[in-house]
Amino acid sequence: MSDIIKVLPDHIANQIAAGEVIQRPASVVKELVENSVDAGATSVHAAVYDAGKSLIRISDNGSGMSETDARLCFERHATSKITRADDLFAITSFGFRGEALASIVAVAQVEMKTKRKEDKTGTLIEINGSELIRQEEAMCSDGTMISVRNLFYNVPARRKFLKSDATELNRIIEEFQRVALAYPDVAMQLSHNDKDIYHLPRQNLRQRIVAVFGKNIENRIIPVKIDTTVVQLEGFIGKPETATRTNSHNFFFVNRRFFKHPFFYKSVVNAYGNLIPSDTRPDFFLYFSIPPETIDVNIHPTKTEIKFENEQIIVRYITSCVRESLGKTNMMPAIDFDTLPSFDIPPMPKGKEVSMPGIKIDPTFNPFKNDTTPNPRTESFGDKLSKMIPGIQLEPDPVQTGLNLNETASEKHSFFQIAGKYIVTQYGKGMICIHQQRAHMRVLYEDFLQKESTGTRVSEKLLFPETITVPAADVPLLQSLLPVLQRMGFDMEEFGRDTFVVHGKPAGLNDFNSENCVQGLLEMHRESGETRYKDNSEMVAYSLARSSCMKEHKVLTEAEMEYLFQSLFACAQPSFTPSGKPVFFIMDENEFEKKFR
Ligand SMILES: Nc1ncnc2c1ncn2[C@@H]1O[C@H](COP(=O)(O)OP(=O)(O)OP(=O)(O)O)[C@@H](O)[C@H]1O
Ligand SMILES: [Mg+2]
Repeated sequence: MSDIIKVLPDHIANQIAAGEVIQRPASVVKELVENSVDAGATSVHAAVYDAGKSLIRISDNGSGMSETDARLCFERHATSKITRADDLFAITSFGFRGEALASIVAVAQVEMKTKRKEDKTGTLIEINGSELIRQEEAMCSDGTMISVRNLFYNVPARRKFLKSDATELNRIIEEFQRVALAYPDVAMQLSHNDKDIYHLPRQNLRQRIVAVFGKNIENRIIPVKIDTTVVQLEGFIGKPETATRTNSHNFFFVNRRFFKHPFFYKSVVNAYGNLIPSDTRPDFFLYFSIPPETIDVNIHPTKTEIKFENEQIIVRYITSCVRESLGKTNMMPAIDFDTLPSFDIPPMPKGKEVSMPGIKIDPTFNPFKNDTTPNPRTESFGDKLSKMIPGIQLEPDPVQTGLNLNETASEKHSFFQIAGKYIVTQYGKGMICIHQQRAHMRVLYEDFLQKESTGTRVSEKLLFPETITVPAADVPLLQSLLPVLQRMGFDMEEFGRDTFVVHGKPAGLNDFNSENCVQGLLEMHRESGETRYKDNSEMVAYSLARSSCMKEHKVLTEAEMEYLFQSLFACAQPSFTPSGKPVFFIMDENEFEKKFR
């Protein structure tokens, strides 16, 4: 048999290698923006179209490239950033492998225009799937502009695995944020389909954080700083009272490179000690400066994992630095003259008329009319329980209990509140204990979903409209959720730039806070993306229910407890909250008996 091993041609080898570096449009944005910063640009513009699936164009005013370099930069292992093996241990630039551009041209149609300051004319070069189409002299401004079209056009399997535009755009925004937070001294712009998401001038770090995450964060963070021979650490951490259960504002940078580090992360959280509840996490933006030879960047293709020579010592510094800062700010008022002016009145969109607040009523609403829509709520409590908990004893002894389970919902029996959190009542020969807050959440969740699908949700007009400002990165997401929110009675519309105005809230909710609700919704989406919920309606309904359900330790009257109990067991799925936590448990007679053995 003849020899069978062949060396793969370059374009196939490049395509395979590209799989490591370029996984989605966001990877292209990351690699190109990093190249621009490495080229000393003071201004970078990333313009993406259709979440980067049709076109990504990055322009910068950096060093530009000579005619020869313009061709060479697309070769594998072609880099200007290291020359010797030793350089690998002292990396100060984002790039060093000379792989990013070679990977991008292997899986897309690329055009680049580039010019150095000292040259009169620049170079235009076009490459499709690693194949050079043309290279010629061109008139262009100083710097480099790279257009990447139809990513994965020649790898259909990869293209098919791209997620929805909203998700891919979110990833792009995330990558962009990481560079923007590392280089506040570089002006950076990100636009999607010609609409600006970010337009950031050169600014100081605090201003950049506020510009990226919105004005809300301005009063939530405090500075930290420590300067030792091993490491310099500075940045900002969240005030303890602003820690949240789901948190996406966690950023570590080392020598201006974003990285992830579970051990450091834990040490930051632990440093807060009892100042934050155990299920919450603080914000932090921590910047390490460290001699480059004491870290190893080259352990993962995306360079977000970094090995530190002095890990244990750094952890100790993190802890003392965070604690010191928390201690100091408890004593000092937080005045910072570096921050942006605090007035931020959104501009009135052109052609918008001012309207008097009014009350919207539904003239056809008749509280005494029977609802004719099919309702899962007609099933009795007993029927439902027997389906949910197979084997449960459903034949109570009427003589002993005085209770017919199939009629429980209409039977009168006593309800008790325990620890301000739980409702206990008799069930068969045992008892049922209900988590009142979770029960309320489940009831509201199903109510939102049902009324959305039947179009019966009523909105309660606010006397004074409220404005909500969200981080610019979240604007496209919130825009896409507006129709669902409106169908659920949350009357909200866009009000220019990153501001939305709320005219009405879902009727009949006492504890509803528009701002909390929107922030919770955005946080939830960032955390779980599309993966967890079947559709936007479920996610919005959960978020609305979560932010408007009763707070813990709410004292309830017996009538309220009974009402909640009946509403819960009128739900289609009363056993769990929308996020899968148990809502109640039952102790039957056998379990009582066991306790007394
Ligand atoms: N925007 C730019 N301006 C000037 N030169 C650039 C630009 N982008 C790339 N280059 C040049 O092209 C080379 C190859 O870029 P590429 O991103 O492929 O590799 P790298 O940045 O050196 O390493 P890595 O693969 O780790 O990113 C760079 O080393 C740099 O010299
Ligand atoms: Mg690079």
